[in-house]
Amino acid sequence: MININSSPIILDGRHVANEVLKNVKIEINEIKANGKRVPGLAVVLVGNDPASETYVGSKEKKSIELGIYSEVYKLLDTTTEEELINIINLLNANTNIDGILVQLPLPKHLNTEKVIGNIHPSKDVDGLHPYNLGKLIAGERCLKPCTPLGVMEILKQYSIDIQGKKAVVIGRSILVGKPISLLLLDKNATVTIAHSKTQNLEDVCREADILVAAIGKPRFVKKDWIKKGAVVIDVGINRILENDKGKLVGDVDFENVSPLCKAITPVPGGVGPVTIAMLMSNTLEAYKMRSEE
Ligand code: GUN
Repeated sequence: MININSSPIILDGRHVANEVLKNVKIEINEIKANGKRVPGLAVVLVGNDPASETYVGSKEKKSIELGIYSEVYKLLDTTTEEELINIINLLNANTNIDGILVQLPLPKHLNTEKVIGNIHPSKDVDGLHPYNLGKLIAGERCLKPCTPLGVMEILKQYSIDIQGKKAVVIGRSILVGKPISLLLLDKNATVTIAHSKTQNLEDVCREADILVAAIGKPRFVKKDWIKKGAVVIDVGINRILENDKGKLVGDVDFENVSPLCKAITPVPGGVGPVTIAMLMSNTLEAYKMRSEE
């Protein structure tokens, strides 16, 4: 029931993430108790982008907390494509590794598609290999990108109706916008993908029962773009300077938009923590799928 006069539900990503992680941990403990090899995750970082370093650090920490075997490769930003692909091939062949994640964005001299294309699809825990993206379109079991999975997990844990609803996704990236659209479609939403060339974007957004913002522009979505009672999912993580202080803000003008919403994710504490939890869950999924082969 939409209750637009009460406070919005703040969709607590940390709580959602903890639920996911709790279940991953139970399964890993069972694997250990049976004396089996634990799942393994390798994360590869090229260069020294501070945000990427932070994300990679969080992924390593979370893996270790859960009892996932973890390897992290920190490579110089002068690393060649050949060197990077050689490392990926070693990880493809390493039987202790179930998941390989190459942190994006890569330095400009490296071809992202070619690099990702060299990850074995069974170890592609980012779900970005063309094989997995093809399976996603076909609606078959596959590894799916972590942020879109995280968005779906938030909607699921908060029992938000998707079937028959109008969903608008702003952003068409391979990492976020396109896969989220497919997952929402799979749950029978009527999905519109909006982007930088969309005409009358505000009008398009005002139609949305579920609005997903994945643009990468701080506080881009304004209050008069929102249908009253909408569910708003903010995928953006933008670092800005405000009053001489560094701050993280989303793609949505949370302060002004939230009073209109039925439910909304905050930044930080919304989609971000769930993305990491889904990476852990994907590593376990890759382990199970490889064990079944
Ligand atoms: N950089 C920002 N988000 C992601 C992600 O989900 N996967 C990878 N590999 N890099 C990212």
